[in-house]
Amino acid sequence: MMTEELIQKIKKKKKRLGNKLVILTHHYQRKDIVDLGDFCGDSFALSAKAADDKDAQYIVFCGVHFMAESAAILAQPHQIVQIPDTDAGCWMADMADSVLLEKAWAEITSIIKEEEIIPLVYMNSDAHIKAHCGKKNGIICTSSNAPKAFEWAYERGEKIFFFPDEHLGRNTGNTLGIPKDEMIVWDPEKPFGGNSIESINKARVILWKGYCLVHTRFTTNQITDMKKKHPDAKVVVHPECTQEVVALSDAVGSTSFIVNYVKSAAKGSTIIIGTEINLVERLGLEYKDKLIIPIKRSLCPNMFKINLENLLYTLENIGQVNIIDIETRIKKDAKLALDRMLTL
Ligand code: 13P
Ligand code: SF4
Repeated sequence: MMTEELIQKIKKKKKRLGNKLVILTHHYQRKDIVDLGDFCGDSFALSAKAADDKDAQYIVFCGVHFMAESAAILAQPHQIVQIPDTDAGCWMADMADSVLLEKAWAEITSIIKEEEIIPLVYMNSDAHIKAHCGKKNGIICTSSNAPKAFEWAYERGEKIFFFPDEHLGRNTGNTLGIPKDEMIVWDPEKPFGGNSIESINKARVILWKGYCLVHTRFTTNQITDMKKKHPDAKVVVHPECTQEVVALSDAVGSTSFIVNYVKSAAKGSTIIIGTEINLVERLGLEYKDKLIIPIKRSLCPNMFKINLENLLYTLENIGQVNIIDIETRIKKDAKLALDRMLTL
């Protein structure tokens, strides 16, 4: 089918379903999908929307699996969450599985009292990891509320176990002025994460060794080269970038933060962006009075798995296919941690 034909069919299906359907799209979705959605946002805004929207019977989530899963955890019992491609995963989320996490937790709590350490889990993780966090009195965060979540955790314990993104954890620790030698990396492949007992005792933040390939592709050399070509440009990056890249940038924040940064920049300004290419290109099309350039083209192939064909297929089989189904026990514990985030 041609693109235009698919778009018209999707619009027809949407019209027929009316208020029974809401299509949520993440900022990294391709333009065609964003244009057909009812609401586009960062991972925090999308989870808040899923928790608030009590009317729609069907939530079709155009994003990656962990985001749709969070929507399903927060949705009402009568709502069905579907994702157009169930294989749209996240490399970073796959870097923390619950077996490795349980092992790490047992090792850490053999040194530190359990009540002293608070698990702080990035939204980019699967439901089992979120459930562990809920059970152990921890909290979820996204890239838009990580500093607040750190403060929440330090009101309740002395140390944070942050996973799975080493970079978001370290960048947040840097923002809050935590000394570098009090942030250690936990390598799940090594006994005690590759750390000495002494350094675990001293640490204020333990960072799981996970990362996003889309964001760690940006380098300081690329920024320096771009700044030579565009000396007046501002650089804004996502906090999944390395601390060196963040240090060379003018601003850092979630995908919604980046959208607002571009929106509020003066006419004629040049903005160099370090995040996924679909968002950067859409911003370039939307703000033609500003020059928007990527540090480097970096695409998330998982986000890109959602397309017009599988969106149409989902709408044609509404309530029937690609349903996000989570075990009740896991859902209950994960919801505890997600609800704590929503109250931040
Ligand atoms: P946001 O929380 O900024 O939407 O980012 C999610 C993500 O997966 C970034 O790689
Ligand atoms: Fe996961 Fe990175 Fe893609 Fe975000 S950009 S969904 S962290 S792989």
